[in-house]
Amino acid sequence: MQEILAKLEEKREGARLGGGRRRIEAQHARGKLTARERIELLLDPGSFEETDMFVEHRCTDFGMAEQHIPGDGVVTGQGTIDGRLVFVFAQDFTVFGGSLSEAHAEKICKIMDRAMKVGAPVIGLNDSGGARIQEGVASLAGYAEVFQRNVLASGVIPQISVIMGPCAGGAVYSPAMTDFICMVKDSSYMFVTGPDVVKTVTNEIVTAEELGGATTHTQRSGVADLAFENDVEALSEVRRLLGFLPSSNREKPPVRPTDDPADREEPSLDTLVPDNPNRPYDMKELILKVVDEAEFFEIAPDFAKNIVTGFARIEGAPVGIVANQPMVLAGCLDIDSSRKAARFVRFCDCFEIPILTFVDVPGFLPGTTQEYGGIIKHGAKLLYAYAEATVPKVTVITRKAYGGAYDVMSSKHLRGDVNYAWPTAEIAVMGPKGAVEIIFRSDLGDPVKIEQRTQDYRERFANPFVAAHRGFIDDVIMPRGTRRRIAQSLRWLANKKLANPWKKHGNIPL
Ligand code: HXC
Repeated sequence: MQEILAKLEEKREGARLGGGRRRIEAQHARGKLTARERIELLLDPGSFEETDMFVEHRCTDFGMAEQHIPGDGVVTGQGTIDGRLVFVFAQDFTVFGGSLSEAHAEKICKIMDRAMKVGAPVIGLNDSGGARIQEGVASLAGYAEVFQRNVLASGVIPQISVIMGPCAGGAVYSPAMTDFICMVKDSSYMFVTGPDVVKTVTNEIVTAEELGGATTHTQRSGVADLAFENDVEALSEVRRLLGFLPSSNREKPPVRPTDDPADREEPSLDTLVPDNPNRPYDMKELILKVVDEAEFFEIAPDFAKNIVTGFARIEGAPVGIVANQPMVLAGCLDIDSSRKAARFVRFCDCFEIPILTFVDVPGFLPGTTQEYGGIIKHGAKLLYAYAEATVPKVTVITRKAYGGAYDVMSSKHLRGDVNYAWPTAEIAVMGPKGAVEIIFRSDLGDPVKIEQRTQDYRERFANPFVAAHRGFIDDVIMPRGTRRRIAQSLRWLANKKLANPWKKHGNIPL
């Protein structure tokens, strides 16, 4: 008996070594942790229970019959984060370059199926050379099995991808369908075709980092949401992100006790908006002063900075925040900001996270780049996302809410539950200058008259009361009391029930 037990321990020890000490050292030399080290850091200490440690590939071609490594390049199982169940897979680059075989895919699918059965998030740690070349179509089939599960799990359980090494070719499409993509700077990349193919096809010379590194995807393409300095930071921030999310769409997001009083006043907010309507101010200052303990987990902070998205808590309960940022492009909506915010709003709606919107938007960004790029379709995504969302929606207009952008930004007309405005709000079809130049075109030669007309327009429309008279704004509130008013609204909205008409699914303007 002792011998059998010792044999088991020996087998486990062998599996834990993955591709062996030499490859582990090479992994470390690149500043990367191994799959098991990553899981240790991600999960609560001692909580990981591994599944399928002894699974091996079934390939016999190209000398593979002689090469078997238990686990086959991916470590899978479940554990807890802050005591809450999560399922994890971590590709092990030390075993066949973390490449995906049929058996490797089956392991991932098994934990995804379990996660769906019990309603718990899946976190994927990607570090892989892609399809196991020796296996051919069996590997492609494995990818597609994972993709199918990604789609079915979308909106049911949170799915988070952390790219911690190579992720190329069709392999990118599994992370692409998950809710959030995190990348590690300098050691990870994602692209559909690598630098060599790019050079052959387009003659462009580009490094892997330039083509698909963390900076590229968090600043230019918007494919990834967050970039981190190293594996340790990435994993600890994923733990923090999880703290804002429910385990599935069957549960409410987790509430965390807070000492921050719901009625805390912030007198400094009374002077946040500058007297000059064209001067910017930092919308993040408002967010930090309103939410619990000034804790804001920003999503996609480096992409489309003219809109701010992220998670925070009010009275301990998570909220999703969307806010125009007057510091960048005057807070205009454009293609990238519309896409970024639309996806975030839909995530919140899937997972019963109330949406708090802060509005200071002069309109949609004009120009041929925007029109040729399809701002009509992309702007419509944000409109659609807000309009279909049934979670509690609380909106605060701090300054400008002009034109179509007023409608889009969680207005009363898109079923905004509570719509507040600060006394500094200007809600109109457009700014006073533009309006006067159109409706009093014949006076354009007379600067004095135009100035008078502009002044008249400003007094008549550049305020929140025209909208408040119609009930489009529920109340005009003192900026200092914003936190208290939001907290009160979210309290009475906590049991909101609203359902959209039955349909197979809508046809969002993709
Ligand atoms: C099998 C692979 C592999 C793969 C790497 N390895 N990729 N084995 N299938 N796809 C093995 C290597 O043979 C090597 O084994 C070990 O992993 C480490 O690889 P190295 O090349 O030594 O590492 P490095 O120099 O860091 O380069 C990493 C890499 C490179 C850039 C990922 O290995 C590479 O280009 N691999 C091929 C990538 C690729 O073309 N994949 C298919 C993409 S198409 P030893 O035993 O020497 O340690 C695809 C389609 C998916 O994925 C479609 C889904 C629909």
